[in-house]
Amino acid sequence: MRKLTASVVGGGTGGQLSLEALERSNCYDLVAAADLQPSICDQLKELYPGIQTFSNHKEMFAQCPTDVVCVSTYPPSHEKVTMDALQLPLKGILVEKPLGHTVKSGRKILETIKQIGIPIVVPHGLLVKKTPLEIIDRVQKGEIGQLKLVEIQNTKWDAINAGIHWLNFFVSLTRNESFDCVMAIFESSTRTYRDGMQVETTGVTYAQTNSGIRVVMNTGDDVLVNREQKDTLFRIIGTRGQIEFWGWENSYHILNDEWPAGKEISPDEFPVTGHQKHLEQLAQMIHSEQVDYRLAESSLIALEVIEGAYISSINRCKVTFPVDEFIVPEENKWYPGTPYSGVGGGRDGRKLG
Ligand SMILES: NC(=O)c1ccc[n+]([C@@H]2O[C@H](COP(=O)([O-])OP(=O)(O)OC[C@H]3O[C@@H](n4cnc5c(N)ncnc54)[C@H](O)[C@@H]3O)[C@@H](O)[C@H]2O)c1
Repeated sequence: MRKLTASVVGGGTGGQLSLEALERSNCYDLVAAADLQPSICDQLKELYPGIQTFSNHKEMFAQCPTDVVCVSTYPPSHEKVTMDALQLPLKGILVEKPLGHTVKSGRKILETIKQIGIPIVVPHGLLVKKTPLEIIDRVQKGEIGQLKLVEIQNTKWDAINAGIHWLNFFVSLTRNESFDCVMAIFESSTRTYRDGMQVETTGVTYAQTNSGIRVVMNTGDDVLVNREQKDTLFRIIGTRGQIEFWGWENSYHILNDEWPAGKEISPDEFPVTGHQKHLEQLAQMIHSEQVDYRLAESSLIALEVIEGAYISSINRCKVTFPVDEFIVPEENKWYPGTPYSGVGGGRDGRKLG
């Protein structure tokens, strides 16, 4: 199979995962990289002496067009860089998570790519690891009955930066079911920022799909994870069993009809990194001309849940989907838990139905 030429825009942590994957993979010929900072370009040239480097992505696209581009810049520039890349005779594209800095931007990126008809991958690591993939397979085969609830606990991280991976996994478990609503509260007493964003000290995101499957996600600086020595925990509850697993760790615990006393399973991990696996799946889609948008769609849904959660917390309201069409209601000054004064209208909650 002919190797596909590839370039990367953004040479930070995310970009380096793609650069390394492209260099290692037999499917690709890594030819160029662009970063705004000349010092990063110098570092990349040292690491990958065969590549050309540029301090401007448009210059790179003009002078060194490639079959595949990886968009690995900060989320607010994903749209601009992607739209510029789509002017090339591109065969496929990787856009880092989150697809955009807003749902609106992410949706525009995905819809434009779909119109052009080329494949896209969004490198969510959990979806190319043995443990989470095996869990998705077991849940979708009904091995814990009908899926009802997923609880996620994650300390030292936040919803926007790490939670998007966790929620993307939840969305994939449900086969990308659409959501009904999300509610959340984020308190920010430590005034923490991470990766360029103001983030929560403690947060709870609660969302439900249209069929009623719930996800409850605890994130923040100091979340009590109720399993010793774990900093991330998923508890997946079905009508006939449950599965617990621990984020990036390579094992899980299942309790169901087959293993009523519970069983810990540790699958053998794939030999390549997550970014390499995603990029090789992209190459396969390009060569087979079979385009599958489910991964990018699941990423966009996860972004929608997170944007909705932040809107909910800031405005004290339930946010319905699609989140980019949601209009924040006016504050009604009705505070549950305080005595009812007997005036000011409202609905008599003793009258059911
Ligand atoms: N999938 C993953 O596991 C994973 C891991 C890390 C980061 N990421 C994602 O990668 C993206 C980048 O994050 P990061 O952690 O690498 O940030 P970073 O700060 O480490 O690096 C970003 C780099 O992009 C460069 N840059 C920014 N705008 C640019 C532009 N218009 N043209 C060229 N270069 C530009 C900056 O100079 C910087 O070197 C984010 O979307 C992040 O969420 C994903």
